[in-house]
Amino acid sequence: MRPFDGARVVLGVTGGIASYKTVWLARLLTQAGAEVDVVLSRSAREFVGSITFEAVTGRPAHTVLVAEGHALDHIRLAKAARVVVVAPATADFLARAAHGHADDLLGAILLATGAPVLVAPAMNDHMWAHPQVQANAERLRDLGYHVVAPGTGPLASPTEGAGPGRMPEPETLLAHVGRLLEPPGALTGRHVVVTAGPTREPVDPVRFLSNHSSGRMGVAVAAAAWRRGADVTLVAGPLSVPAPAGATVVRVGTTAEMAAAVRHALATADALVMAAAPADFAAAAPAAHKLKKDRAPEALVLARTEDILTATADARRPGAVIVGFALETERVLEGARAKLAAKDLDLVVANDATEPGAGFGGETNRVTLIARDGVPQVLPLLSKEAVAEAILDRVEALLP
Ligand SMILES: Cc1cc2nc3c(=O)[nH]c(=O)nc-3n(C[C@H](O)[C@H](O)[C@H](O)COP(=O)(O)O)c2cc1C
Repeated sequence: MRPFDGARVVLGVTGGIASYKTVWLARLLTQAGAEVDVVLSRSAREFVGSITFEAVTGRPAHTVLVAEGHALDHIRLAKAARVVVVAPATADFLARAAHGHADDLLGAILLATGAPVLVAPAMNDHMWAHPQVQANAERLRDLGYHVVAPGTGPLASPTEGAGPGRMPEPETLLAHVGRLLEPPGALTGRHVVVTAGPTREPVDPVRFLSNHSSGRMGVAVAAAAWRRGADVTLVAGPLSVPAPAGATVVRVGTTAEMAAAVRHALATADALVMAAAPADFAAAAPAAHKLKKDRAPEALVLARTEDILTATADARRPGAVIVGFALETERVLEGARAKLAAKDLDLVVANDATEPGAGFGGETNRVTLIARDGVPQVLPLLSKEAVAEAILDRVEALLP
């Protein structure tokens, strides 16, 4: 069973350089099990041939609206689609779509479909910044299209690329399609705040205290919540894994910075999942200048950092679901229950750092979930992605 098995996806391609990346997107969608109907604009055919798409998807690529034998292509394709994607979307396409033009196959499909539409603009950075292009993109958003903002990075022309204009990577667009294929659930439209990774406490300007957290657990929770339709804010210390698609990422360094970012995000949060491993101790008096190797201090005096859940408790909205993690090395359930009560949590995710496959760094975790009723839900050894889904199932059930 593949994630998109049997889902019909119309993949519209317009005449931009980034269309070479759309070949890879077509392949990823096909590998994920989707039946991909590629629709090329007239200009797009000058950039990438329809035969390439036909070979990659195993299905004919479509190019014409008004032609013998194709009279109802636009209606057939529009009706069958579970998602319509336009990648890359040129400035000219945005203008046509914003005004409801139907003078080519893709334009007619957009007007005839009831499926969600994902649009990935890609163009020169000055073109994207133009108020006319911005107005067209805004109009499409108002019409309910999902417009993925282009990224900043090298554009096709080596002299361009100071500002945004670059099409997101095919893997990111694949994640967006996955989200649109999910049926709406309890997290749709909710704001979920997730913390991930370690924090760093300076000892001097070049050294810090930290821990082995990779951020993998929090990133998995953020990715899964976003896939379920939530607006996700990921408050992240330095991560050893890539940040997930879709989440708004707030980068922090110290535990105090993480606390401030959590406090800010809690103002609109429906749920907070504290999967980070903030440093519990900081140097009591970090040195202003680099400590010299030959004059090492005899001792480093430590101070407790603030406890983020306790310090931000007053910022929680009524009804917000608060999830904490308890990483213990002994009497795990006892410690987790104590944390649940002391920090006024709705759910605690307990794990034993001494168990093989559990805790920091690795790709798996073995956890027990305990809500206010105290009944433990013992989960087997699972991937962190599967643990994330189990946590979110409980969060969904706890939401008012
Ligand atoms: C080499 C070349 C590259 C182009 N790249 C882009 C691009 O990345 N984004 C864009 O909006 N237009 C780009 N254009 C302009 C479009 O191809 C042009 O506006 C065309 O009419 C778009 O048609 P379509 O939207 O029907 O595909 C490019 C043109 C050329 C000649």
